[in-house]
Amino acid sequence: MTDRYAVIGTPVAHSKSPLIHAEFARETGQDISYTAVLAPLDGFKEAVLRFRDGGGAGMNVTVPFKQEAWRLADAHSGYAMDAGAVNTIEFREEKIVGYNTDGVGLVRDIKNNLRCGIKGKRVLLMGAGGASYGVMEPLLREHLEQLVVANRTLEKAINLVGHFEKFQSFAVRGVLARPYDGLGNAQFDIVINATSASLENAMPPLPPCVFAPGALAYDMVYGGTTPFLAFARAHGARAADGTGMLVEQAAESFFIWRGVRPQTGPVIEMLKAKDRGSRIED
Ligand code: ATR
Repeated sequence: MTDRYAVIGTPVAHSKSPLIHAEFARETGQDISYTAVLAPLDGFKEAVLRFRDGGGAGMNVTVPFKQEAWRLADAHSGYAMDAGAVNTIEFREEKIVGYNTDGVGLVRDIKNNLRCGIKGKRVLLMGAGGASYGVMEPLLREHLEQLVVANRTLEKAINLVGHFEKFQSFAVRGVLARPYDGLGNAQFDIVINATSASLENAMPPLPPCVFAPGALAYDMVYGGTTPFLAFARAHGARAADGTGMLVEQAAESFFIWRGVRPQTGPVIEMLKAKDRGSRIED
């Protein structure tokens, strides 16, 4: 019997998850269907239960429901508990089990696809919203030299750092919260944009000296060059968008559901080629 999965969000029509999971299923020979479910802002729970009661096996959760999915879950697995957000649901008997695969996706993309080690590195994480909460624990477990969280609203960065206090010792020189104008002349090996600025074609007020020689600039937003990535390139950094993270988090969800690890490289290439194509058509 074909097992049914879906991504749920609002909006969701633009989601690349159905395409990604169809490729994974084809490559691994898994018999699944994967669709998109548009849920009203006040109807997330009902839509999830309807999908489950219709025979659904699991779901991915996207904007704006990740925190609500965390509250809905009966149990939290892996990195979901401290992230306070769930992007992957598994229906297990009568229970809803919530996972968060976003941080694993980011770490795998940086390490395996971009071939950039994280251990012993100075990392700057920009933003203190849900996207940052999702990646803090997996990043810290890589044993960094230092993690600095910068945010326009400093209080939110302080709260984020405090929330992950029990993982502080994973960074040799600790975890700090800073406003952008408090970064001074500090340099970082990896600079990650977890703000939503790119979605508005804007970028955080970042001093240009933050990029250490050979630094990697990573924007969690996918789909090509963002103002942050253009800025990073102009100041000598290597730039990567979030396409690889998107595919890696999907692969981890697929593994949770199916127990099979799909290849991610060809799917990342396929999405990047599509992006290039759509820009030429524009
Ligand atoms: P998400 O769940 O995607 O992280 P969010 O919780 O709304 O979304 O958080 C958005 C983050 O992007 C916040 O850290 C926000 O900074 P503030 O907390 O100061 O609002 C950050 N952000 C959004 N637009 C930004 C911009 N133009 N420059 C800098 N930071 C920005």
